Order: sequence, then structure tokens, then C-alpha cells
Amino acid sequence: MKRLKQFTKWMKGFLRLYFMAVVILIALQYFRTLTPLFVQHIIDAVLSDQPSALPGFIQDIVAADSIQRQLLLVAIFSVAFTLLRVILFFGHRFLLAHFAENTAYRLRNALYQRLQDLSFTYHSRAETGDLIQRTTTDVETYRVFIGDQLIEVLRMIFLITFAVIQMSRMESTLTIISMAVAPIIFFSAFIYFTFVKRVFKRVEEAEGTMTTTLQENVTGIRVVKAFANETFEIDKFDNTSKTFRDENQRLINLMAYYWSLSDFLIFIQFCLTASFGIYFTVQGRMGPGEYIAFLAYVGMIVWPLRQMGRIIGDFGKTTVALDRIDEIINQQSEHEDDAQDTPPITGHIEFDKVTFQFDDDDKPLLKNVSFTIDRGETVAIVGKTGSGKSTLINLLIRLLENQEGRILFDGQDIKTINKRHLRKHVGIILQEPFLYSKTVYENIGIMNKRADKDKVFNAASIARVHEDIINFEAGYETMVGERGVTLSGGQKQRVAIARMLLDDKPVLVFDDSLSAVDTETDIQIRRALNSYWKNTTVILITHRIITAKEADKIIVLDEGEIIEYGTHASLLEQNGMYAELWDIQSSLLRSTVAPEKEVG
Ligand SMILES: Nc1ncnc2c1ncn2[C@@H]1O[C@H](COP(=O)(O)OP(=O)(O)OP(=O)(O)O)[C@@H](O)[C@H]1O
Ligand SMILES: [Mg+2]
Repeated sequence: MKRLKQFTKWMKGFLRLYFMAVVILIALQYFRTLTPLFVQHIIDAVLSDQPSALPGFIQDIVAADSIQRQLLLVAIFSVAFTLLRVILFFGHRFLLAHFAENTAYRLRNALYQRLQDLSFTYHSRAETGDLIQRTTTDVETYRVFIGDQLIEVLRMIFLITFAVIQMSRMESTLTIISMAVAPIIFFSAFIYFTFVKRVFKRVEEAEGTMTTTLQENVTGIRVVKAFANETFEIDKFDNTSKTFRDENQRLINLMAYYWSLSDFLIFIQFCLTASFGIYFTVQGRMGPGEYIAFLAYVGMIVWPLRQMGRIIGDFGKTTVALDRIDEIINQQSEHEDDAQDTPPITGHIEFDKVTFQFDDDDKPLLKNVSFTIDRGETVAIVGKTGSGKSTLINLLIRLLENQEGRILFDGQDIKTINKRHLRKHVGIILQEPFLYSKTVYENIGIMNKRADKDKVFNAASIARVHEDIINFEAGYETMVGERGVTLSGGQKQRVAIARMLLDDKPVLVFDDSLSAVDTETDIQIRRALNSYWKNTTVILITHRIITAKEADKIIVLDEGEIIEYGTHASLLEQNGMYAELWDIQSSLLRSTVAPEKEVG
């Protein structure tokens, strides 16, 4: 019952299309089993004067006086029937395609939507490739099953039923004889395909491994070439390709055994029907027309029987796909039960004794973190790598939830603020920003579709990337990403900053987002930004003390605790970790800058 619900959940509203398709299917199968009757009629009409087995309404018209007229009428009926079948078949396929495609469309979108709503924690654990496979291949498996395979089973059931009815009207003993081998054909197909599923799976896995190898190689081709590692890579691919070939060959061999064996079974069935049929005809228990029609029925049924065994064997594959899909669908959305409050956010932030620990850790990462940022202030956070800086930001926008303490925006606990609302007011620029496979222009303008050319150029100028862009051959129309020029790390970071400039947010976070830009440009950009955003609260995470120096306040984080907190001058006086870092970095800067000055 649960399975049925899982199976039909996505079909709601489209099921009547399916029922209509099934009704047409029944008519189609009935008409199909009438065709041998026409042949039978012709033969019997020519050879003997046995009464025809045609349905009454046709019989009345066809039973004309001369053989010629009878033949002509039968021919006209046959053509008319075939035409009718063609039209019905078209309608049948049309309805089915409509049904299956729409169901799959709905399912795919539901999955995609759920992926958007899943928590940051879920996504950081899930594998990208696996998620993609579930939204594409698994949905496709389901679509093929409901659109093609299931109907095929129904088609067979109706076809066999109608054929057996017609056959038993002619000669019941021969019907039993001719159906004797059918269950064997069906079950052997079923058992065989259940068995061979494992081999199918191995072929799929081998193909997966091969694709992954290929994909990794193409993505990392720069590294491969830089390390002159081509021979090794070619060997690696050769191995995976070989495995794929061997597994595939094994499968093809197994299939060949099966097809020949089942052909043999079908042949036996034919022989039985033919021999007994002749015997019965000679005995006069049936007419020659009936005999021919009988053989036609057997031919109609036997070939698809093994297909049916295969499809039923495939049912398992569909349930596995649906289970994998449901695993995502049944995950709780991070917006379910979320707070509804959407207060105005101006940019006053307070951390009050915040403690946070990852589920799989044994001790907290952030311990008792407290600080306040006023509206329009710039606060720098410095600290060793892994000290918890990015985690702090993830807590700020509720990508993660703190376990102890409170985080407040304008005095209100963020746990009582709607997540989407909160995130709309905080802009984050990451160290490795994500750019779309679009032009540079579109990438900058993506947050604010209404921004005109001047605004985009201005934003790019403030972010000190305008000059770089106009020097590209295609200028602002340069494609970013796979198909076009790949921007340098620093250019990407600056494009991301320009993008953020077009979007007016009260709080901005730079998570090490100028790390790939030289110190000089970094400071230039920071100063330009400071005058641009007078009322914007800025949180600046950086490893560069010279950048941090310009902030109103500086937080020094070490192993999840704030060890120093104050202005540049006051921190230098404290003579702690900050002063130490300052000493190292400023002397480094002097030693690299000084020689240049001498030359100049
Ligand atoms: N999902 C997670 N589960 C468990 N531990 C995690 C998870 N995400 C990050 N960590 C750990 O938390 C610690 C702090 O990570 P975080 O990204 O906050 O550091 P960071 O200060 O931003 O470092 P960096 O300067 O290198 O960016 C790291 O040791 C990291 O391995
Ligand atoms: Mg970080």
C-alpha cells in the first residue's frame, strides 16, 4: 500500500490521462485480435463453406453472394480497421507521453525545490554527483517505467486475454496445448533478468568509474599537464575503460545465451501448435482458416511474453530509484517551522556569549564569543586558519544554529527572525566566489536586473576591475567559466565585489575575499568602499593585518575564543598575538616594497 502511494504520488491530476490511454489500449488490443479473423474468413470462404468467425455486425455485411464481393469487402474492412488502429494508437501514445512527461516534470521540480530548501549541514555532507544522479537518472528510470514499461505489461495482459478468448472459441484443446510453454517463457525471462540485474549493475558501475576518471581528468587537465602526468592518466583511463568493455562483453554474452534459449522455447511452442493444429484439422475438428488464424495468435503472443518477464524484473529498479528520490523529498526543509518575523534590519549586530559545536565534534568550536558592532562600523576578524571565522559568519545568517548564547540584529534574537529575510539583508563575498557561465556584464548585474550600464561600470570601477575587463578582447561580453576565458582568482573576487555593490544591503561580509588581490589594490578597494558605504556595517575577515588596520575595531580569534578585541592602536599596546602578526607582516611588506623604491 505504501509502495502504491509512493508510486502514484506524483501522478495526481494526470491519472485520468493514463486511464484514457488504458481504455484506448484495450480497444486496440481487441481490434488487433480481430485481424486474424479476416484472414480466416478469406481462407474459409475460398476453400470451404464453413461459417465465418467474424463478429456479427461485420459478418452481416461481408456475407455477400459472390466470393469476389466477399474478398473486396474484407479488404475494405481490413484497411478501415488498420486506419482506425493507427489513429487510436496515436491518441494512446499522445496521452501516455503527456502523462509520463508531466509526472516526471513535476517530480524533477519538486526535487530541485527540495534541494534548495535543504540545510547547509545536509549539503555539506551530501555528494554532488549523487544528488545530480537522483534528480536526473532516477527520475528518468521512473518516467520510463510509468510511460513505457507498465503499459507494456497491461498491453500483454489484454492481448493475451482477447487472443485466448478467440482461440478457445475455435478449439479449446489446442488453446491449452499452444499456451503450455507460455508460462515457461515468461518465468524464465523473469528469473533470468532478475539474475542478470547484478551484471547490469556492474556495467553501470564500471561506466560510472570511467566517467568519473574522465571528468576528473578534464577538470584537472592543467594540473595533469603541469606535472607531466599524462602517461599515468592514460594508463588509469585505459584500466577503467577495459573494465567497462569486459563487463559489457560479459553482459552481451549472457544476453546471447538467453535470447537463443528463449527463441528455442518459442520454436517449441510453434511446433506444438502447428503439429497438433494439423492433426486437428485433418480430423476435421477445425477448418484450415482457423488453423492459420491460430498460428497468427500464437505468433502475436509469444514474442512479447519474454519482454514482459523482463519488465517485471525491472520493477525492482524503479522502486530503488523511487526510494532514492524519497530520501531527498522526505528530508526536512530548513524553512519548515521557521520564524515568520521580518523586522527592519539596519546593521547593528551583537554576539552574546555564543557557543557552537558541530554534531560530529567532541568539543565546541566557538566558545563564549561576545562582541558588538554598531551600524555603519567596519570590524575586522583575524585569526589562524581553522580558528572558526567562517563558522561565525555561517551562524550570523543561520546557515548553522548556535547552541548557546544569542546573536542579535538590532536587539532581536535571530532565532526569531525569518531566515530568508535575514539572508536578504546580509551580503557575503567568499574567498572563491561563484560566478555563473554568463558574460562578465551579466555576472555583475545578476543581483540587480534593473541596474543600467553606468551603474555596472561604476561598480566595476570601485571594485578596481573595470580596467581589467575593458582590456579583454570581448570586454564586458567576455564569457566567464567553462566556455570562455577563465578569470584570474583576483579578477573573480573583484567581479564578485562589483556584483555586491549593485545590491544595497545593510550588512556586508568579506570572508577573505580580497586574498587573491595584491596588497596595494586591496587597500585601494577598501578605501573606495569605505566612502561608498557610509551606513553599511562591514565585517572583514582577513589574513592581512594591513587591511585589518583600517577597521574601526579588530577581533582576534584563536581556537574559537576572542583573545583580543579593540582598535589597531590599542591592540598594538596589548602586545599580544595581533602585535606579533603586525610585526611580522609589516616587516615583510617593508622588505618587499623597499628595493622597488630604490630602483624608482
Ligand atoms: N561541517 C563541519 N563539520 C565539522 N567540522 C567542521 C565543519 N565545517 C568546518 N569544520 C571545522 O571547523 C573549524 C573551523 O572552520 P572555519 O571554516 O570556521 O575556519 P576559518 O577560521 O574560516 O579558517 P580559514 O581562515 O582557513 O578560512 C575547522 O577545523 C573545520 O575543519
Ligand atoms: Mg574561512
